[in-house]
Parts: sequence; C-alpha cells; structure tokens
Amino acid sequence: MPAYEHFAAFYDIVMDDPGPRAERVDTAIERFRPDAGSLLELGCGTGAILARLNTAAELTGLDLSPEMLAIAGRTVPGAHLILGDMSDFDLGRRFDVIICVFDSINHLMNVAAWASLMRCVHAHLADDGIFVLDVNTIGELRRLGDELPWVYDFDGGTAIIDVTFAEDAHGVGVSDWDLRVFEQVNASRYELHHERIGEIALPLDRVRRLAADGFDLLDEVDEEGLPATDESVKAHFVLRRVN
Ligand SMILES: C[S@@+](CC[C@H](N)C(=O)[O-])C[C@H]1O[C@@H](n2cnc3c(N)ncnc32)[C@H](O)[C@@H]1O
Repeated sequence: MPAYEHFAAFYDIVMDDPGPRAERVDTAIERFRPDAGSLLELGCGTGAILARLNTAAELTGLDLSPEMLAIAGRTVPGAHLILGDMSDFDLGRRFDVIICVFDSINHLMNVAAWASLMRCVHAHLADDGIFVLDVNTIGELRRLGDELPWVYDFDGGTAIIDVTFAEDAHGVGVSDWDLRVFEQVNASRYELHHERIGEIALPLDRVRRLAADGFDLLDEVDEEGLPATDESVKAHFVLRRVN
C-alpha cells in the first residue's frame, strides 16, 4: 500500500513552509537551465513545490500516492499529474529539468531502487538537462531518531511524529516515521489517523557514486550552502545529464 494514504489530508498543514524549498529549485534552474521548457517532479506529493516554482516551464508531477495526487490536482490544476513509481517509470518523453526534493528519494527503501531512479532520470532528461535532488543524510535521520516525538498543535487537531533509527550492516540508515494525527471532529471527540512511513539514508559517498554514472556534478551543498557531509541536515545536489 502506498504511503501517505492517511497523512495526505494533513501534509500541507503539518509540514514546513515549502517556499524556501521551491526557491532553492528556482535558483538551480536560473543558474543551470534558465531556458527550461519542461519540468518533472518525482514524488510531487500535494504539489506544494510545483505550485510555487517561478519557472515558465510546463509542469509534470509523478507520485505513488493517489491521495497526495488528488490534492495536487487542486493545488496545481495546470500541471500534468501521473500516478507512478519514481524508481520504475517510462513516460515516453524527456524533460529539461527533473526534480526530486524534500527527501522523497529517501522513501525508496533499498539501494537498488535509488539506482533505478537514477537510470529513469537519465532516460527522461534532455541532453544537458539538469536533475535537482536532495537527500536526508544518515546524520539527520540519526538525530531525528534520538529526539523526543515531535508534537504539533494545529487548528483542528494535533499531530505527533516519532522517528526511530537504526543503521544496518552495510552502513545504510533505516528510519521509521510513526505519524499520528488526532483530528478534532467535535468538542469532545478526536479521530486518529495513523500511518508509518519508512526512509533510508545512504552515506553521501554512495549517493555520489550513483550520481557519477551518467551525470556531471554541478553543485552539492548543505542547508547553509556549505559543503555537505554525512552530518548535514540535507545534501542538495544539482546534476547535469551526460551521455
Ligand atoms: C516528503 S513527501 C515530498 C512531497 C513534495 N516533493 C514536497 O516537497 O512537498 C514524499 C513524496 O514521495 C512520494 N513517494 C514515496 N515513494 C514514492 C515512489 N516510489 N514513487 C513516487 N512517489 C513516491 C510520497 O507519496 C510523497 O508524496
């Protein structure tokens, strides 16, 4: 069953402001592919990023969750939205820009699926097209696992997110996100929406090796624009397709 079935309705309420994430993508496009005519987002979710991009490119979003895509359909009615798996897709066309952001790739639970995503991206990028990717690092998933559950009160309910973390024998970080939303349905009653979502994180050297196959590295920074390490919160990559 695809993740986000139960969390979709609360995703935009509970998650951080997507504005800075969209700005980061805009900056990469302005720097490296300012003439982009087409853009594909893998793991587009509710369309929060697509809706905020500053680009004139024609927009396509792909996601595995029908519930997230239903919201995206209302948020970015002009985008072409596709239900599909970002590690195994064939859209029969190419794009100037492909993005996969807000740790969407971390949702692929084995290294083979990350490699398969990279192959699909390569096959769908125009010559010299760019791939904007971010990943949660092992350090970040470990820190989230060490923290107490995160509690967020919003108008209409409370969300509690509890992350657990373990590292496997191959140095891959594996985390389990336990998401509970207590939705207030009347003065004395709450309805519980519960689901668990997995993420893995690879050592950045392994991500770099995956990216070296078919791509040039244009940029790789942490949240502050400094060189990314396995202890950064995220690593942000901009890659250019080469043959
Ligand atoms: C953390 S959300 C990010 C959504 C959006 N990129 C944003 O920044 O708001 C991760 C998204 O990846 C999607 N996803 C997870 N596994 C996927 C897969 N195998 N193929 C396509 N989408 C997937 C989820 O359904 C979810 O919408």
